[in-house]
Amino acid sequence: MGAPPRVALVGVHGFGRVHLDRLVRIAGEGRIAIAALVDERPPDAASIDAVRATAGGAGVVIGQDAATVLTATRPDVTIVSTPIHTHLPLAEQALAAGSHLFLEKPPTATLAGFDTLAAQVELAGRVCQVGFQAFGSAALDHAAGLIARGELGRIRGVGVHGAWVREVSYFERAPWAGRMRLGDTPVTDGALTNAYAHAVAAALRVLGTPDDVELGVELERYRAMSPEGDDTAAARITVAGVPVVIAVTLCARTARDPVLVVHGEHGRLELGYTADRLTGHTSAGAVAAPAGRTDLLENLLDHLADPSIPLVSPLSASRPFMQVLEAVRIDGPARPVPASALTTDGGRPVVEGVDEIVRECAERLALFSELPAPWPADQEVPR
Ligand SMILES: NC(=O)c1ccc[n+]([C@@H]2O[C@H](COP(=O)([O-])OP(=O)(O)OC[C@H]3O[C@@H](n4cnc5c(N)ncnc54)[C@H](O)[C@@H]3O)[C@@H](O)[C@H]2O)c1
Repeated sequence: MGAPPRVALVGVHGFGRVHLDRLVRIAGEGRIAIAALVDERPPDAASIDAVRATAGGAGVVIGQDAATVLTATRPDVTIVSTPIHTHLPLAEQALAAGSHLFLEKPPTATLAGFDTLAAQVELAGRVCQVGFQAFGSAALDHAAGLIARGELGRIRGVGVHGAWVREVSYFERAPWAGRMRLGDTPVTDGALTNAYAHAVAAALRVLGTPDDVELGVELERYRAMSPEGDDTAAARITVAGVPVVIAVTLCARTARDPVLVVHGEHGRLELGYTADRLTGHTSAGAVAAPAGRTDLLENLLDHLADPSIPLVSPLSASRPFMQVLEAVRIDGPARPVPASALTTDGGRPVVEGVDEIVRECAERLALFSELPAPWPADQEVPR
């Protein structure tokens, strides 16, 4: 057996912590060696000790500048888990160092940047897995199979409702949080493009949306506490005539897991994509969903060892999602939620009634303004 693949992680704090813990676990099994950790803010001593204790981890290179560290270490795989607008330049540096990529979602801040990256990955003869972890879900695959085989009859639409609670501090944690741009640089951070990116991507995936499809996108985007991007939004994406409605908020009164609802002529499915919970029925009866999730990094390693094993979330499969992101980017800053629709809970803004409003949108495949009792944001407010 050859030496295990050498993996670098760029971005060790924030969500990078999840990657770091996984790397230590997989390195502990001897599947990889941790070659480098890169962050503008150095990792803590306990993390460094944990990495150094793994097989092959004693020589880990730790640095603050990705280009320098990646050029020196030339890892087989580089994981990029940094702010959205840094993904493209860091991915380019990783490719220049000969690395395959594991890129966090959303892959880039613009569709043009995505197409540039796709071309560069191709040119470099490397592969790129995108961190849409729900794509590894057996329950999502099962739902997609039922739809593709016509077991729900004609699909009337797919709705996702999401009611999460974020504190104001969520938008204060980093300068890019909730920003559409930083100076001249697009960021495109919002509920639709980031917190609920998995909802958008999973809804498109469950319908078997082709990578090269042209999507129609209608948007109603609002912000109660985000500085620019949406924190309360409805999007209707039309996929080959089938409406996909994503209605989500980070300003709910009570948090609950987001649910993806498939409305079929002869059945209905509900997928809790964060917990891989699938329930519902088809014309054949109740749905029994398989459990489990393929880990995207392990899948990337499996693919590199044996290319006949397909990537679960290859870069190309993110293109439909990126069309939605691009529509959001072009739409610009979200509109403020009108004062009449706002209340507070322990200092955090809550959009009045939004917990039920998002559910209604997903059930009726409607935008906010199309609900029978329009919510106060139906009154136009300036951006
Ligand atoms: N897959 C998921 O479920 C999931 C969940 C949360 C976040 N994310 C994604 O993970 C990424 C990171 O999000 P976050 O909230 O952790 O961000 P963050 O702002 O907390 O940044 C993460 C780390 O990147 C470092 N960093 C920033 N610029 C850098 C640079 N140029 N070079 C090296 N290090 C740099 C920061 O110092 C920080 O430690 C984003 O793309 C986000 O959308 C994915």
